[in-house]
Amino acid sequence: MAQVSLQNVSKFYDGNVKAVDNINLGIESKEFMVLVGPSGCGKSTTLRMIAGLEDVSSGNLYIANRLVNDVPAKDRDIAMVFQNYALYPHMTVFENMAFALKLRRYPKNEITSRVHEGAEILSIKRLLQRYPRELSGGERQRVALGRAIVRKPLVFLFDEPLSNLDAKLRVQMRTELHKLHNRLQSTMIYVTHDQVEAMTLGDRIAVMKDGLVQQVDTPLNVYEKPKNKFVAGFIGSPPMNFMKGKIIKKQDKLYFDEERICVKISDEMKQYLNKYLGKEVIMGIRSENIYDKLFIYDAPPENIVKVICEVIEPMGAEVYLYLNTGKHSFIARVGPHDKPELGKYMELVFDMSKAHFFDKDSEETIA
Ligand SMILES: Nc1ncnc2c1ncn2[C@@H]1O[C@H](COP(=O)(O)OP(=O)(O)OP(=O)(O)O)[C@@H](O)[C@H]1O
Ligand SMILES: [Mg+2]
Repeated sequence: MAQVSLQNVSKFYDGNVKAVDNINLGIESKEFMVLVGPSGCGKSTTLRMIAGLEDVSSGNLYIANRLVNDVPAKDRDIAMVFQNYALYPHMTVFENMAFALKLRRYPKNEITSRVHEGAEILSIKRLLQRYPRELSGGERQRVALGRAIVRKPLVFLFDEPLSNLDAKLRVQMRTELHKLHNRLQSTMIYVTHDQVEAMTLGDRIAVMKDGLVQQVDTPLNVYEKPKNKFVAGFIGSPPMNFMKGKIIKKQDKLYFDEERICVKISDEMKQYLNKYLGKEVIMGIRSENIYDKLFIYDAPPENIVKVICEVIEPMGAEVYLYLNTGKHSFIARVGPHDKPELGKYMELVFDMSKAHFFDKDSEETIA
């Protein structure tokens, strides 16, 4: 069983640059865990500590229940795939894939059978005798994966392995990684700054910022129940809309008053917002939870807002509307049949049961 466990793990560079700040993270055996976050948040450093390429400054790191703080990289039974997967140019695909096994003095027939098995899984058997220069970007990436697979490691570590590929190939390789994980049933830890990749690949995702883990959960829970404004804004595309406003009371009902627009807070959320009465909060609402009123027959009048449409972006299956309340800009994703007029007021409906509220100062989720 190849669990990986980080207990109070920190990394300081040159004594004071805190790249990773007291991380606690448990990765289950066979789990696909994605570390996601903006540039510089400490993702690669975390992965490199697991790999043994960086020392842990403080805390404990376990792989398969073994404390590995002082175990050299080569004895950790992990395989890592980087963004710059530098294949050896003077070696064929076969030789590239066989290289690590040769170093470890595996018998020749074992090497041949492992390379063929790996090539079969990755559909690169026909490329085994080619040199890297004779391969496309996607094929090279597959060979890099192949080099890791043949090792049959306890844990696979990936550091942005798809970021050199063009958009289409990235989507294709993403699906293949999914299949690979299902087939190999190994523990995989995957680093990316791309939230779509994180959402689609991860059994769970750990969202990081400034060396700290903000939230660890399934993709859906992170999307629907973000712990704070940072996670809410980082996960999802287009990003969640945020507006600042005050909680007010009218006839025993709570409202979010943005000055230009005012919407009623749902009954389920009322209990959490009562103590914010008269105070400013941040409301978050995703673009898909805002509808064109024309297509909602029984819209509650207190959730209807009148705003100006500034830009219309047809995406094919849907249309992005860039809207403005007069105080805040926000985006709505509506069906392609909607025909709003530019620069004109239009009426939209907020699904307030899907709204999020954050404390203005701490930015932690209120409801
Ligand atoms: N060798 C080093 N010496 C000093 N500081 C470093 C070193 N490597 C990384 N850092 C710093 O540690 C922090 C975390 O870096 P890290 O490479 O882990 O970020 P990342 O999340 O992988 O970012 P990216 O998405 O850009 O790859 C950054 O502030 C970075 O400048
Ligand atoms: Mg990195």
